Amino acid sequence: MSDMLLEGRSAIVTGGGRGIGEAICEELASAGASVIVADTGGAIDGSGEDSALAATVAKKCGARALPYSKNIASPKAASEMVKLAMDHFAGIDIVINCAAILRDGLVFKGSPRDWDAVVKNNLSSAYYLTNAATPVMRDQFKNARGDGNNYTWGRIINIGSTAGLYGNFGQANYGSAKAGLFGLTRITAMEMVRSQVTANYVAPFAHSRVTDMIQPANQEQAQYKDRAMRISPYHVANLVTYLCSDQANDVTGQVFGVRGREVFIFSQPRPVATVTSTDANWTPEKLGEAVDVNLRSHFTDLATDLEAFNTDPIV
Ligand SMILES: NC(=O)c1ccc[n+]([C@@H]2O[C@H](COP(=O)([O-])OP(=O)(O)OC[C@H]3O[C@@H](n4cnc5c(N)ncnc54)[C@H](O)[C@@H]3O)[C@@H](O)[C@H]2O)c1
Repeated sequence: MSDMLLEGRSAIVTGGGRGIGEAICEELASAGASVIVADTGGAIDGSGEDSALAATVAKKCGARALPYSKNIASPKAASEMVKLAMDHFAGIDIVINCAAILRDGLVFKGSPRDWDAVVKNNLSSAYYLTNAATPVMRDQFKNARGDGNNYTWGRIINIGSTAGLYGNFGQANYGSAKAGLFGLTRITAMEMVRSQVTANYVAPFAHSRVTDMIQPANQEQAQYKDRAMRISPYHVANLVTYLCSDQANDVTGQVFGVRGREVFIFSQPRPVATVTSTDANWTPEKLGEAVDVNLRSHFTDLATDLEAFNTDPIV
């Protein structure tokens, strides 16, 4: 990091102990931010814990980093992280919701218990922290924290997934939570724009224990795994650091993807074709004919995210 882009800023990064979250913590810290590294150090399904993990990463991030090693997926944990930031850093500039677990299962085989655990861990936790941090961020704007009369700053970044935008076999709970994060991002962006706080969604591709876990069911998936394993999570951290910087002051409500040195912006669902009728007796049959003529050519296919992004990454 050549420039201290984030000097004086403070950040909370959930899932900061490993993989993409760890890279984000290190990049934000080396750009000058004080960082709370929040991670239980648990297994990929959310079980167990290793309280040393967050402390180890915080130590790597330097003197201004602090660990939080409890489970982040409760309103109480969200309040504790906010309090930790207020007590030690006197404010919150950046919130990165990155923690996630995996409990894959096909819709006709998975369990409601796994659904509840994944949605709570990967989606509700982001709401809890956003809900706890945004009142502080609004106050900072109103009361001109730090920059005298001109405090116009705040960043919320939700780490999503193309599994929530395209879908993927076995990931009903995970993909639904990631799709939910898209809605949370849009609404946070709208509601926080007056406080000059941005909210964006980042769908990453990077080598981590998640990619290690992929069990290829065919040649194409094996190739996808092989390619994903070559992508450093630091490319994700690079995009996140840009989004946190002053250069991205007016970038909000957007959906980015990052795959090595390739960064893309996703379109967001908007009507692309319409059928209308003035016929008072618009029957299902007539509607069906209109759909065939005017809408069918706009239908979206069932390609999974693994299929859609199975090209050589630029690493
Ligand atoms: N690696 C990829 O290619 C990829 C693709 C799409 C999306 N993502 C997303 O990127 C993010 C980071 O993924 P990763 O690949 O680095 O995974 P990872 O498993 O290496 O890291 C996730 C971290 O979050 C922590 N965590 C999970 N739930 C927690 C909780 N309740 N409390 C505290 N800590 C918790 C875990 O302990 C772990 O250290 C996740 O949101 C994931 O869904 C990753």
